[in-house]
Amino acid sequence: MLEMLELIHRLRRNRRNSTIRNLLQETHIHPQHLVWPVFVLEGKNKKEPIPTMPGIYRWSLDLLIPELKRASKLGLNSIALFPFIEVHLKDASGTYAINKDNLVTKAIQEIKNSCPGICLFSDLALDPFTTHGHDGLLDPKTGDVQNDPTVAVLTQMAVLHALAGADYVAPSDMMDGRVGAIRKTLDQNGFSQTGIMAYSAKYASAFYGPFREAVGSKQLQGDKKSYQLSIHNTREALREVEADIWEGADIVMVKPALSYLDIISQLRQKYSVPIASYNVSGEYAMVKAAAQQGWVDEKKMVNEILISLRRGGSDLIFTYHAMDYVQWF
Ligand code: PBG
Repeated sequence: MLEMLELIHRLRRNRRNSTIRNLLQETHIHPQHLVWPVFVLEGKNKKEPIPTMPGIYRWSLDLLIPELKRASKLGLNSIALFPFIEVHLKDASGTYAINKDNLVTKAIQEIKNSCPGICLFSDLALDPFTTHGHDGLLDPKTGDVQNDPTVAVLTQMAVLHALAGADYVAPSDMMDGRVGAIRKTLDQNGFSQTGIMAYSAKYASAFYGPFREAVGSKQLQGDKKSYQLSIHNTREALREVEADIWEGADIVMVKPALSYLDIISQLRQKYSVPIASYNVSGEYAMVKAAAQQGWVDEKKMVNEILISLRRGGSDLIFTYHAMDYVQWF
């Protein structure tokens, strides 16, 4: 028979029962840490399912607002707003994005009027508005996305969103210098209190597929590798984040989340700025697809995913699971 081991430390003592385990739990998720991405579309009485994202809908405003009130009662008070733009309103330069009475500005105004307690992140990018699905204006010769002219449009969008009442504008385009230009323009127009949540480390990822269906930009020509980060790189992400912090970002984001936990954790160690992670559409769709087959325990898996993002160093988490999560727990 094996003798009793002479152990000073027996780590299992701290896991003996649930009271002790709860007492020593290091990481928590509260509804206040979650941001729920929502899709709006024109019209009335619409709740369109998105086939690639079961459980997620495109809402018309009249139906979205009661849903946001319901979320708020459950403690979920932050949303990220994305528009589904009808094809006839799109063109090569995304002109409708800077129409001051467009779907986005109307939605921001109505949401902030009806639910003033909500923190609203409005997306700044051209892809829902362009016929080619890129986040900016294309160079007629090379077909590449032009940096500085795109930034000029983004600054105009930022002012419209701020005027409509957005709490944070969220540039998701990955153009160089956009955070600084947006900060300057907002300040010059009297919006020094409107924040910037920068999609700083946004990788050129295959995990965005279902989202492109949701916003109707899946007709994308080519890829986004000349502006989004290479999936192979870490130091490049740190440079992007550093630039955005210097330019005035109030919050920086890592996107996608799960395959980039190493990036989140390095940022947490290096910088004191708040860090957001985006648990993106492809990550959501994988869980949903497996759950629909009965192959996994969805609730436990979602909890584990969100915990991993908090443990990795995210302060806030953008996730399509948000509404489910606050209803389950
Ligand atoms: C583009 C944008 C994308 C997402 C948010 N904003 C996709 C892309 O770069 O094509 C993806 C979000 C998700 O997958 O959930 N401005």
